[in-house]
Amino acid sequence: MTEKHFIPTPYTNSLENGSFSWSSPSNIALVKYWGKKEHQIPKNPSISFTLDNCKTTTNLTFLRKASHGGFSFEVFLDGEQKDDFKPKIETFFKRVEDYLPFLKDYHFKIETSNTFPHSSGIASSASGMSALALCLMSIEKLIIESDVTLSAAERSIDETYFTKKASFLARLGSGSACRSLEGDLVVWGKHDGIEGSSDLFGVKYPNDVHQNFKNFQDTILLVDKGEKQVSSTVGHNLMYGHPFAQERFKQADKNLSDMISILKEGDLDAFIALVESEALTLHAMMMTSMPYFILMKPNTLEIINKIWDYRKSSGSKICFTLDAGANVHVLYPEGEASQVLEFIQNELVAFCQKGQYINDKIGFGAKLL
Ligand code: PMV
Repeated sequence: MTEKHFIPTPYTNSLENGSFSWSSPSNIALVKYWGKKEHQIPKNPSISFTLDNCKTTTNLTFLRKASHGGFSFEVFLDGEQKDDFKPKIETFFKRVEDYLPFLKDYHFKIETSNTFPHSSGIASSASGMSALALCLMSIEKLIIESDVTLSAAERSIDETYFTKKASFLARLGSGSACRSLEGDLVVWGKHDGIEGSSDLFGVKYPNDVHQNFKNFQDTILLVDKGEKQVSSTVGHNLMYGHPFAQERFKQADKNLSDMISILKEGDLDAFIALVESEALTLHAMMMTSMPYFILMKPNTLEIINKIWDYRKSSGSKICFTLDAGANVHVLYPEGEASQVLEFIQNELVAFCQKGQYINDKIGFGAKLL
């Protein structure tokens, strides 16, 4: 499958106006994507847990414009106009224009809200871009279905194509967004051991998953809610000319191969080792690039050490992972939820900014509202 697959058969657009709403979750990578080629193609494959509570809801209203002209849209976050979001959306529209030829026919009102606090340090790009991509796909589906000049076959868009194309579009907005549409595990990036995997879109993990990994929990500890020190665009670019880049890309591919058997066997100890190593490697890449960054805060390290102590003394299967920031995702099996939450309350909350954390768990993807 190539990009061409997502260019629609030319259609006659007779829709005047309408609106769609989608909610789409965030996701947390177990094997991380860090480094990309042109057109948002990842340098290595990645796999993530889809989250459940951390999500974005987007309502997209479209109204036909008098003239074709350029892109026309306004953006609102929690009812407040957000012009600072516009450049990112304009870039996204430019990237997807060939795949969504109706974009310049309408004025769009994008109304969005997140379940998590905006400046919590939790990236809203994955949930936000996937929700927007899905709304746009709903419009395209409606246009195509109502075009009587097309044949019956051309008018039907099946669910698989809809989701793939929405993921493909979301990827062009923000790479990891393509992993937010489905759940509970999603792979993005071509990998020999995962049938159907692609650099162009995320796919629901198709291989066997042991019961141990069902309903995994993720408590997100908000250590630092400040603006991101390094944007992900800058971060990915740091992998160009990075002295360890090639080894890192090979390692990620191998880690995903190992993850396939870990998920199948239900090997929680091997899971812990792989996931924590991936998180620290991501941060090591940032510490060893030029320019270099330390995105962990002292409290990030306090929390990691506490998790290690707790695991050692209790035999718990708790582990941590990190995004490109200071917050800590605490992962643990559902069966341990009450003990781990007690541990978090007693020992980890003290290291969170204003004591804030979010209880989440594995989810199953986006929903049309
Ligand atoms: O989707 P982006 O371009 O914001 O990159 C996200 C990269 C990480 O979150 C650090 C890792 C990942 O695979 O999600």
